Amino acid sequence: MRIDVRTTAPLKTDTPCLVLPLWQDAKLDGAAARLNKSLNGLVAEVMTQDGFKAAAGDTRVLYTNGQAGAPGQAAASRVILLGLGKRDKVSATTLRKAAARAARGVRAIQRSSFALAVPSFEGITAAEAGAALVEGTVLGLHLFHDFKTDSESKSQTEITAVTLLTESAGADELRRGVEHGQLVAEANLRARLVVNTPSNKKSPQFLAEQAQQIAEENGLRCEVWDENKIRDEGMGALFAVGMGSDNPPRFIVLEYTPRGKANDAPLCLVGKGITFDTGGYSIKPSTGMEDMKGDMGGAAVVLGAMSAIGRLQPARRVLGIIASAENMINGHAQRPGDIVTARNGKTIEVLNTDAEGRLVLADALSYASEQKPAAIVDFATLTGAIGIALGQEAAGLFSNDADLAKKVWAAGEASGERVWELPMWDEYKEHVKGTVSDVKNIGKERRAGSIAGAVFLEYFVGDGIPWAHVDIASVAFTREEHPLTARGATGFGVGLALELLRNG
Ligand code: BES
Ligand code: MN
Ligand code: ZN
Repeated sequence: MRIDVRTTAPLKTDTPCLVLPLWQDAKLDGAAARLNKSLNGLVAEVMTQDGFKAAAGDTRVLYTNGQAGAPGQAAASRVILLGLGKRDKVSATTLRKAAARAARGVRAIQRSSFALAVPSFEGITAAEAGAALVEGTVLGLHLFHDFKTDSESKSQTEITAVTLLTESAGADELRRGVEHGQLVAEANLRARLVVNTPSNKKSPQFLAEQAQQIAEENGLRCEVWDENKIRDEGMGALFAVGMGSDNPPRFIVLEYTPRGKANDAPLCLVGKGITFDTGGYSIKPSTGMEDMKGDMGGAAVVLGAMSAIGRLQPARRVLGIIASAENMINGHAQRPGDIVTARNGKTIEVLNTDAEGRLVLADALSYASEQKPAAIVDFATLTGAIGIALGQEAAGLFSNDADLAKKVWAAGEASGERVWELPMWDEYKEHVKGTVSDVKNIGKERRAGSIAGAVFLEYFVGDGIPWAHVDIASVAFTREEHPLTARGATGFGVGLALELLRNG
């Protein structure tokens, strides 16, 4: 999709569809007032008589047939009125969602391009607004149709060009925002693609190849360990999870080091990369098991974020670390009751082979801790329980460091990928204390499941290292339609991670 910024007046812009934002409970002004005048009061009429209150994300199509401009001037034959809600309540989040609604509206009337009149804002910069509008447009329009061959889905109108119109002096700032929004959206789509890819076409080796490709595109170092190296390097937990599949496990490291920063303490982004989770011998019920192709959503966050790092050029060192395996069943698969040794030397009793994410992360976090990191942030589709607690409105956040937790939380607010912190008190650590081993991989039956996962992980984080764990199990993949995701992979976490790299 081509996106550009122009400074032409909305009503004079030659476009098949003009998207005109309106504020709720506000007097019509600017382009909206001029449109209303040239349509003999139609906009006001729609607002007073047709139930259109300009609430955030609300839309109406006006069939203006070119009458939207002054006589003799080029003008759109279709105008979509787009509610932005109350002017003083506007945020990047409302703009993303509103832009997505508008873009889907344009697609519904089969126009392949549109122009959006960017209003002036209070409380949000032109750059933030530009980024949010672009993210909403690109993400809201995205559909996973890569495996569809029928003509119906092929003929669905594709929107190929979007123009943001600004009448104010802030065009350059808006352009900067647009560029950043494109970067974030593309990184998100990259993550969505690997999550949506079915598991017959997605193995740990596939993730390794994705990483290698991203390394080439961004000038990063990439290291991949195969199953033998994983075993020899003492990653007994990752190895054990991977043993049950014909697709062997991989441990993947991507490194971004800015010039002159080779000795800096890196920020480690760690991702769970289970390319399919059957549960192993503690097998899952068959209903809904297909969603477990998305159990590498954490790895996808790491890949997505690293895919944008060459363009983002953060000033700090960043390591992207992925522990990848397929949790399957064969004669080598681990059994409930097995005891494995993680890279940091701690022993784990595997009481449930379906709690495999924390096993592969145990080794990844041990490795990350050895890199003398400034901080570690892991992303993982770790527990079904997090969806019971928070639904799809936020991911779970767990941290041993209040400062880091605050930064992750703030990055979530800014990116629209919200997180909410849950506790990791010492009392919870008791839940995963081992009887015949140091730790066991499950807590108490039906109690604090997500916290049990988090406190388990903490055993593998080196002393004094700030660490945050983001449980994205309920938000990485959706069957319900969301403002920014039709269905399937959401890319949740990529925007948050990029925001962290920028400001954290
Ligand atoms: N991959 C699942 C978690 C999950 C559930 C992700 C639903 C996405 C949607 C994870 O490996 C798992 O199976 N967790 C178990 C842990 C339990 C055995 C302690 C769970 O949540 O039931
Ligand atoms: Mn599992
Ligand atoms: Zn899993």
